[in-house]
Amino acid sequence: MANVVLVGAQWGDEGKGRIIDVLAEQADFVVRSQGGANAGHTVVVDDEEFILHLVPTGVLHPGTQCIVGNGVVIDPKVLIDEIDTLTAKGVHIDGNLYISESAHIVMPYHKLLDGLREKLKGKGAIGTTLRGISPAYMDKVGYVGIRALDLLHEATFRTKLEMNLVEKNLLLTKLYDHEPLEPELILAEYGGYAERMRPYVTNTEIILNRAIAEGKEMLFEGAQGTLLDVDHGTYPFVTASSTTSGGACTGSGVGPTKIGMVMGVAKAYTTRVGAGPFPTEFTPEEDFVDRKQDREFGATTGRTRRCGWFDAVIVNHSVRVNGLDAIALTKLDVMDNCKRIKICVAYDDGGRRVTDFPADGAVLARIKPVYEEMDGWCEPTKHVRSYEELPANARAYIERLQELVATPVEIVSVGEKRAETIFMSPAFNGS
Ligand code: IMP
Repeated sequence: MANVVLVGAQWGDEGKGRIIDVLAEQADFVVRSQGGANAGHTVVVDDEEFILHLVPTGVLHPGTQCIVGNGVVIDPKVLIDEIDTLTAKGVHIDGNLYISESAHIVMPYHKLLDGLREKLKGKGAIGTTLRGISPAYMDKVGYVGIRALDLLHEATFRTKLEMNLVEKNLLLTKLYDHEPLEPELILAEYGGYAERMRPYVTNTEIILNRAIAEGKEMLFEGAQGTLLDVDHGTYPFVTASSTTSGGACTGSGVGPTKIGMVMGVAKAYTTRVGAGPFPTEFTPEEDFVDRKQDREFGATTGRTRRCGWFDAVIVNHSVRVNGLDAIALTKLDVMDNCKRIKICVAYDDGGRRVTDFPADGAVLARIKPVYEEMDGWCEPTKHVRSYEELPANARAYIERLQELVATPVEIVSVGEKRAETIFMSPAFNGS
């Protein structure tokens, strides 16, 4: 397997954790390069469920080294809780996990401001995960962020925190009518986190590039999805990081010439959480997804997901902006009982056929999806392990999707367990 970047091809929650888990077995390193505790990657191993927010999913494979790269924003409390939970479940962490010293730290004021800003926006709220993501990235690009290496140096941390609090407390008290934050309380709390994080914090860019020079293989684990990318997504209803393939390079310090392939993970249908346009969202009559049984609620926030038909216009956009070489199609089994299936092949903008994804939210809000319809397969697929065994209509569906997005589907998942995976070619199952 070459060095692979794996990204979400829709609005996140495509089941990336599930695919990363099967591919991680063949990787020496699994690398997170963007996002933060807004992500929630669910993996089921031998009937045990793991939900990972910051630690890369590769940690569930004993031989795989895990990197939290410089592009990630780290909430130290979430990280430490996750390390403790994994350790209690018998997962080996020490010596397997490295955290970039340049990664930025999510501070209490980031989480507070995330909530206050959302409230202030009222109807225009984004529906963020309230994990402090956007305020943390704002400080990063505003040159006032606190990095992991700053957290480890008590004097530097104090200086940077006090400097930040001058501005944040003005915002809190004058704009939001909120109590100011007390530096000593934060220093005490974060000082404890610093000691827990110290053993893991290092220069991960050196580790990764040395390993690549030795021929080791990397899997870059994307979080969120292409349509949430701050540049290429449905702005402003996006997240604050580069969720597309380029983000894997800037967020890890590995150059693009070292990437062998880019794989996009797409659900067999579409989901989205939070506000924002969603052209193929189901009408109540069309909706066949059982939110509970089919696990269509957020792993991080518990919010139920909005669901809709597969949208080839957005996946084509993903193919383009990520340079996708292949697609992993997830949750095909959720469509097992769907009698008639719709696929969005274009948008209709007042009589004009649109096939290129519009950057303008106003256009996206007014267009109507143009659907193609086909019969469902109406039989279970969970037990299927090869493409040939799939019902003819399921194969026809996959083939039509491949055609529409001009990209091969290399992996199909038909359940949440590791074994419930169909590999279209041996390249991805280690054989
Ligand atoms: P934030 O990342 O918390 O700032 O949220 C911004 C938008 O991204 C909101 O619409 C969230 O629902 C969405 N979002 C953030 N992380 C995820 C994720 O992991 N899956 C799906 N949506 C996400």
